[in-house]
Amino acid sequence: MRMPDGGRTVLGRLLHEKQADGTIQSYFRYEPGWLSEAASFPLDPVNLPLDSRIFRRRSRTGLWGVLEDALPDAWGRRLLQARHSIDVSRSNNIELLLLTGWAEPGATGFAENTAMPGHTVTPMEMEMTDQAIIAAENFEKDANAISLPEFFISGGSSAGGARPKVLARSGAALYLVKFPSINDPAPDIMANLEAFGLECAREAGIPVPEFFTVSATSGRVALAVRRFDTSGEQGRLHFLSLQSLVDSEEQLGLPYARMAEIIRAVSTDPETDIRNLFKQMVVNIIICNCDDHLKNFSMILDPAARGFRLTPAYDLVPNLWQRQHVLSVAGKISDIGRDDLLREGRRFALSGRRTRHLLNEAAAGVVAALARNRDRLEKLAADHAHCRQLLDQVRENLAAIAYPETRS
Ligand SMILES: Nc1ncnc2c1ncn2[C@@H]1O[C@H](COP(=O)(O)OP(=O)(O)OP(=O)(O)O)[C@@H](O)[C@H]1O
Ligand SMILES: [Mg+2]
Repeated sequence: MRMPDGGRTVLGRLLHEKQADGTIQSYFRYEPGWLSEAASFPLDPVNLPLDSRIFRRRSRTGLWGVLEDALPDAWGRRLLQARHSIDVSRSNNIELLLLTGWAEPGATGFAENTAMPGHTVTPMEMEMTDQAIIAAENFEKDANAISLPEFFISGGSSAGGARPKVLARSGAALYLVKFPSINDPAPDIMANLEAFGLECAREAGIPVPEFFTVSATSGRVALAVRRFDTSGEQGRLHFLSLQSLVDSEEQLGLPYARMAEIIRAVSTDPETDIRNLFKQMVVNIIICNCDDHLKNFSMILDPAARGFRLTPAYDLVPNLWQRQHVLSVAGKISDIGRDDLLREGRRFALSGRRTRHLLNEAAAGVVAALARNRDRLEKLAADHAHCRQLLDQVRENLAAIAYPETRS
């Protein structure tokens, strides 16, 4: 575990045994030294609480969700495959953790013994974004055709998520830089759409990381998002996804309120986090950010309180190519209206008055972001039919959700 002050310490051990039926039986326990450490905290406050027992888990991967979080997803796996020519399928996850070493973003690291992992991430300099966009595009077209720069493998392979990305630095600040993918339905506008999504959240008073777009000479645009898991250059703040905390086999259609339950049980400031989550849900519905799966929500160490808080919002990408949400609102994953949001508010254990107030704040955030970006959005809409249809849909959602009385 990398600590907020930059120190590194052995937190626990995982033992795994492959079973005859192909599953993996795993055992995990915290190191006694970690349990007696003044600054210790659990890897996962719900599924691996801080005590001296041996935790057991038998599954296809043998990993607790918090360890799966440290694994690369589609993009990182492709990079690892290109570099090491190894089996990057889920059945090989424990080997991949060892290859990853220090898993960034995040604070965890993995080694075969209690020595510190050797592999560390070298972030790209932000000025290299131009070259990185071209390298990412060429790599996507033909993984064998180019030899990737070192920063690309090192800074790209451990990050989660499906879209191309690399870890970067600008001065002492660390960022996640997301590139358009040739597989995106609208690569030219992805970064701008995501910046708009983040701006809606920010205007609604939801914490978001600092972010900016970077335009490359190729005409492509990338999005740089400041990392929320850093504390100085060396310190890291452990965070884990709601997917790990919820620990459910199937997440499709799980209610948003399931996350509120976890926050209530775990957060060091549940009232604030639950209100922000409620507003994020409303913003997601209004702006058509349907990719609201449980890895797109996380809780992060609050070192002062030795507990966890909801992270700032991330990966907010409005789009029309996904028509159904992953999580449900009042049992629905599409055609979600004002009454559904108010009903889900009750499941968040919020009063009716509070729910309406938060809904209005969220909607006002979207209105403010639309107004602030009017010229830029109009230009994008003029050039891209998808953006025009999306803006029409957002305005329609706003009218239906925030101002139902103005509708005939
Ligand atoms: N600002 C941030 N600071 C630290 N970690 C972050 C930040 N933003 C995202 N992450 C982590 O990086 C992962 C990938 O980022 P993100 O979700 O934005 O990428 P993506 O490729 O668009 O994901 P998806 O596969 O959901 O489309 C997230 O799941 C989260 O764990
Ligand atoms: Mg994501």
